[in-house]
Amino acid sequence: MKRLFTFLLICHIASLEPHSLWYILSATTGISDFPEFLASAVVDGVVVAYCDNSLKDTKPKTHWMSKLFEEDPQHVQWLNNKCLLNRLDFKATIITLKQRFNQSEGVHIFQRTNGCFWDDETGEFDGFNEYGYDGDDLIRFDLKTLTWISPRHQTVINKHNWDSDGSSLFWKYALTEDCIHFLKLYLNYGKSSLQTTVHPSVSLLQKTPSSVVTCHATGFYPERATVFWRKDGQELYEGVEKGEILPNNDGTFQMSVDLNISSVTAEDWRRYDCIFLFAGLKDIITTRLDRTMIRTNQGMIQIEKKGSFPLVFVFHWNNS
Ligand SMILES: *[C@@H]1O[C@H](CO)[C@@H](O)[C@H](O)[C@H]1NC(C)=O
Ligand SMILES: *[C@@H]1O[C@H](CO)[C@@H](O)[C@H](O)[C@H]1NC(C)=O
Repeated sequence: MKRLFTFLLICHIASLEPHSLWYILSATTGISDFPEFLASAVVDGVVVAYCDNSLKDTKPKTHWMSKLFEEDPQHVQWLNNKCLLNRLDFKATIITLKQRFNQSEGVHIFQRTNGCFWDDETGEFDGFNEYGYDGDDLIRFDLKTLTWISPRHQTVINKHNWDSDGSSLFWKYALTEDCIHFLKLYLNYGKSSLQTTVHPSVSLLQKTPSSVVTCHATGFYPERATVFWRKDGQELYEGVEKGEILPNNDGTFQMSVDLNISSVTAEDWRRYDCIFLFAGLKDIITTRLDRTMIRTNQGMIQIEKKGSFPLVFVFHWNNS
């Protein structure tokens, strides 16, 4: 994931985010008003189906997914089976993890995010499968080498087992064949609504007169978009810091890019502007760097990203 994002930031116009299908699963203990097990399928950043421990069946979350559920009972059966098996597996795993981490009580969260990316123009694809515990990386699958990478000593045993017991081949198939197949199926059903474009509102924000100026675009859909600063019409790379695209809880996205103005003289301000654009679309939103346009950041919603897990978790819950 990190690799992919870095790549995207470097050549963001030529190759924007490909289509994606993510499965996000979590098991929790110690939270009374939260499902012990929750799983959702996310297509291009939109939750399309979910199940939890209180539901017998998987529920569709979009109109087109309901249609697919009616027309493809076999697929619904597949989802229901996966949901049940993972529910049992996650419940057992969180008990094991508590023991391995020497924890007897408290709030604990075990998560898995797995899925695939597919570029409909080049046909390139990639897959990932990562496990997290209490917000930290636990173990992940490397699709290139078909091996498991464990940064924690508590999961070294899993690495050794999974490297040799056929899990790698299972995941290779699941992430490339199955996932890409389902992503294409979903994209086909969701064609009309997934292709709707929603433009963002773009604002310039600044904490104090000497801090960086943040160009913040929020409320856009789809996520295949980019925001950047220009000087004299040319994209700027120095003195800018780009944030990741983050989900809002209504299915839209936000993204921001900071401009360090410490060495920009007052008369040079007018040479800078911030650009928002969607992949493959010509219309751009231009916001000129102008003192009178800048808002202080009161009321700005900022999503902090701590590792890859808590953000997705919080977002998902708000959204369902
Ligand atoms: C686990 O917790 C017990 C009780 O708090 C403690 O005595 C023991 O040293 C801990 N073990 C590890 C490996 O941290
Ligand atoms: C902005 O640039 C100046 C000079 O290059 C540097 O000293 C300062 O730390 C930068 N500020 C931020 C917030 O990056």
